[in-house]
Amino acid sequence: MAGDRVLVTAASGKSAMQSVRRLAERGANVRAFVRREEARAALIEAGAREVVVGDLLDKASLSHALQGIDSVLHICPPMHPQEDQIANDLISASCAAGVRHYVMWSVLHPHAHVPHHQRKQKAEGVLIDSGLDYTILQPGRYMQHLETVWSSLLKTGIHAFPFSTTAPFSLVHLDDLATAAATVLTEPGHKGAIYELAGPQVLTQEDCAAIISRELGRSIRAERIDIQLSAERARANGLPDWRVETLRIMNEHYDHHGLAGNGNVLQWLLGRPSKSFADYVRELMASQS
Ligand SMILES: NC(=O)c1ccc[n+]([C@@H]2O[C@H](COP(=O)([O-])OP(=O)(O)OC[C@H]3O[C@@H](n4cnc5c(N)ncnc54)[C@H](OP(=O)(O)O)[C@@H]3O)[C@@H](O)[C@H]2O)c1
Repeated sequence: MAGDRVLVTAASGKSAMQSVRRLAERGANVRAFVRREEARAALIEAGAREVVVGDLLDKASLSHALQGIDSVLHICPPMHPQEDQIANDLISASCAAGVRHYVMWSVLHPHAHVPHHQRKQKAEGVLIDSGLDYTILQPGRYMQHLETVWSSLLKTGIHAFPFSTTAPFSLVHLDDLATAAATVLTEPGHKGAIYELAGPQVLTQEDCAAIISRELGRSIRAERIDIQLSAERARANGLPDWRVETLRIMNEHYDHHGLAGNGNVLQWLLGRPSKSFADYVRELMASQS
């Protein structure tokens, strides 16, 4: 509820930082859990009242961070190889600390045969069986991935990711997800729920390229990057082997199935239409001009 003391994990990350902003706007008393002291100033600026420094892999850090906490928003570092261990430890520490509401930032289709989805599925199971009051949020692929390829797209005229140009995705705006997280934590009626948080349209890379072409007023075409080549580039850029391999398996899955869901629940939680991909492209263009 508004005024509750909420612990947000991995708080210097992009999903958590935006969630802290939206929670603070709604009057939540946010304690941000970060790994590096240098992250403190940005979180205070985002509206956190307290920042605790610790490591999600250290049980003593978890118990310390949970003292006096009413609710938890657990956002795990992406593709973390010990995500299920972190979840187990944080859930037991939350039970011991008397947490009243535990919100887990999971993923759309946790059953998918992708290692980090399956670790989230296990973590969901542990949470459901824990006896804690919970809400599970299952976000789709963020629209914000476009930002990572934007400068190359502008240079080459190509919208390129390592999966089929016809694979379907319910791309979702990160700020809508953060707003939904703040809603379930500050308003009553969301305990025991599992919410699929997908964007308003199902889009392929080809659809995205067409929308970007309209917004930019120039032709952009979609292209599938070879998955092995993409993995080699990621390794050359210094990504650890486990992460390269997880990304490769994820891209193979996306290549065949995409990641599409249904956007109704998100719109209901927001009480307004969720942001479209065209809205996001316009925001990105405005932010870069
Ligand atoms: N991207 C998508 O499309 C998508 C879709 C659905 C779900 N998700 C899920 O969203 C979640 C958040 O992703 P994100 O992209 O927002 O994350 P992110 O920006 O990469 O941030 C991850 C954060 O985790 C922190 N961290 C790493 N190891 C830690 C540790 N041992 N102890 C404490 N903190 C640690 C990092 O801290 P430092 O600043 O110190 O490095 C960083 O701030 C992930 O679980 C991901 O699977 C993502």
